[in-house]
Amino acid sequence: MTLRAVIAGVGSALPERRVDNAELAAQVDTSDEWIVERTGIRTRYIAGPGETTGTLAADAARRALDHAGIDAGDIDLIVLATATPDQTFPATATKVQTMLGIVDCISFDVAAVCSGFLYALSVADSMIRGGGAKTALVIGAETFSRILDWEDRTTCVLFGDGAGAVVLQAAENGQSGILATRLHADGRHQDLLYVDGGPSTTGTVGKLRMKGREVFRHAVVNLAAVLNEVLDAAGVTADEVDWIVPHQANARILDATAKKLGLSPGKIVVTVDRHANTSAASVPLALDVAIKDGRIKRGDLVVLEAMGGGFTWGAAALRY
Ligand code: ACO
Repeated sequence: MTLRAVIAGVGSALPERRVDNAELAAQVDTSDEWIVERTGIRTRYIAGPGETTGTLAADAARRALDHAGIDAGDIDLIVLATATPDQTFPATATKVQTMLGIVDCISFDVAAVCSGFLYALSVADSMIRGGGAKTALVIGAETFSRILDWEDRTTCVLFGDGAGAVVLQAAENGQSGILATRLHADGRHQDLLYVDGGPSTTGTVGKLRMKGREVFRHAVVNLAAVLNEVLDAAGVTADEVDWIVPHQANARILDATAKKLGLSPGKIVVTVDRHANTSAASVPLALDVAIKDGRIKRGDLVVLEAMGGGFTWGAAALRY
């Protein structure tokens, strides 16, 4: 018997307020031309006072449950990836659990920054295949606007807020489901991408700091390597892949990674222009967009990948 975790439904949520590059250029020394040319970003969504990582996550989860046609009461596992939790504790996953009216299930957060959704998906997949859960909500949700230094033009133009969710269901002997996942971390480069605060060091939340050019170099190398690794593990070739849904950090990273693997740019789902970098939310947000607009269809071979602070990086190959 082969037990696999199948994607039963997807959903996403964005804050109400959309901010374009021109609005940012009125606040910091930047321009629409610079941001579009260097990153491909045109707009991002920024959370308002009533919107938090938890509320966005719960909205995305409700939509994923609706899409799957599954009742919240059937969820026995919630794994939520975030670097911007509502509070230091309890885990935002438990807040989402309560917002969904679920009285008892396993709920916890995973912190792997922009790769968080890949880490969360891999953990949920392992638990499902091991028989520890049957129906899981895997969520990536962030409010990076709250940890940005809005006077630092090198970082504040790059990020946005949002959430994406998938419902995973255990299925026996089917063709679809998660075929393979691969995860990595290398803690030696923490000075290239980090937040300069935390509960056990400064006692403050801190602000994001990034040496973008160096991160870019590592991202292209690591992502190409982990993509090859996950394709091998799944026993498929790059030619067979229908869609790549990458972490949406920078359109140039997406192009460079595709080129390195010899993949057609037409197979890559791009949403960075609309959402900017939403960290752990970006992969499930992009997946939701491409499934709902009809590009990704049942039976398609889909590869997800991400790289983020830590550094952490990972990929998943699945048959939708
Ligand atoms: N507007 C105008 N000029 C700017 C801006 C801005 N917003 N930001 C930087 N500049 C200037 C710099 O000051 C610099 O000027 P100088 O040459 O006079 O010193 C010039 O533009 C070039 O700066 P670079 O940093 O070298 O620009 P680069 O082409 O590398 O682009 C970017 C920067 C977009 C950040 C890119 O390096 C990148 O995308 N890096 C990867 C980020 C990433 O992948 N993150 C993923 C993980 S994120 C996570 O895990 C949270």
